[in-house]
Amino acid sequence: MPSSPNPLPVGLVFGGASGEHAVSIRSARTVLEALRTGANADRYAPRLFYIDRQGRWWPEAIAVAVLASGLPSEPAALPTPLRPGFQGFPEGALDVEVWLPVLHGPNGEDGTIQGLFTLMERPFVGSGVLGSAVGMDKQAMKAAFAAAGLPQVPYACLGAAELEANPDAVAEHLEASLGYPCFIKPANLGSSVGISKATNRSELLEGLRLAASHDPRLVVEQGVEARELECGVLGVHKLRASVVGEIRFDADWYDFDTKYSEGLSHTLIPAPVSEAVSERARALALDVFRAVGASGLARVDFFFNEELDALWVNEINTFPGFTSQSMYPMLWAASGFPLEDLINNLVTEARESFRLHDGSERLGP
Ligand SMILES: Nc1ncnc2c1ncn2[C@@H]1O[C@H](COP(=O)(O)OP(=O)(O)O)[C@@H](O)[C@H]1O
Ligand SMILES: [Mg+2]
Repeated sequence: MPSSPNPLPVGLVFGGASGEHAVSIRSARTVLEALRTGANADRYAPRLFYIDRQGRWWPEAIAVAVLASGLPSEPAALPTPLRPGFQGFPEGALDVEVWLPVLHGPNGEDGTIQGLFTLMERPFVGSGVLGSAVGMDKQAMKAAFAAAGLPQVPYACLGAAELEANPDAVAEHLEASLGYPCFIKPANLGSSVGISKATNRSELLEGLRLAASHDPRLVVEQGVEARELECGVLGVHKLRASVVGEIRFDADWYDFDTKYSEGLSHTLIPAPVSEAVSERARALALDVFRAVGASGLARVDFFFNEELDALWVNEINTFPGFTSQSMYPMLWAASGFPLEDLINNLVTEARESFRLHDGSERLGP
């Protein structure tokens, strides 16, 4: 793309009222650097917007301070005391030509902010309301995978009210249908928050109560012995799958501490699996992406058991981590797309598809 004399205002939104607030700040640093590197420096004029843990938006000066401070918490000295939640845009938001919501988890990766951008009739990077919402809620996600005939481990969906009404009956049913070990998950979090593994009735009941304290919608899965493979998907109309990577970790399972403690996990790119398995994962990743109606980008995670030759879809993340150590940008770097090109591609495709398909031409100048 030729360099533009008028760099495009890109609204980089980060932080967010989610358990992954701190990860979002780290992701945003990496993305901002990519927007300022090489040819992107002439193409883009990043505008920064920080959303605090209460969901309030803050203007550039505070956003810059949060990115620079290294403090993932909300600035103590935020000015006026305000109600929680969105209460209007800070200055500069209406000049943004394309939004880049580098947000993970609820209130960012789940369709809510995508709804706001849709109402504003502005292009944005990533999945729309539907793909984001279906990709976030593990009950809806599993239903979409099942409808598309994609392989998953055996699972059950239940509600916190059912559990409260008759915990023993719920436990008996889960023991009979799934057995032990099993994994208990709140439907709508991320980063393994609220997830536990149970190997007996008391752990199961405890795990169900823990998950229910986070979300009234719960999922329980049969625990499988498996390696964890991940594949990146990129594109709006023409989809591409990256090379396949693997996560290895020193823990029984990939829990929150293992995910975010330095040195407890590492990535292998490409994953040491056969060409056939890698091709299966790449093809499945595209099916998964389509099954939830995703767009732009996503990381698709799998469980792989070599002895059984089983490859199960675990989940899709519609705005995967973008920190310097994150799998998604590393997968694309290994597939011939360095971070600057990846970000440029995401922004360019978001704008092009908006122009062609989201009505901006119909609406006129
Ligand atoms: N059915 C399962 N069998 C084995 N391990 C599991 C299973 N479900 C989850 N895990 C472990 O828990 C981790 C987190 O689960 P996941 O569903 O990916 O939650 P999150 O959306 O928070 O990342 C997985 O990466 C894996 O290590
Ligand atoms: Mg996961």
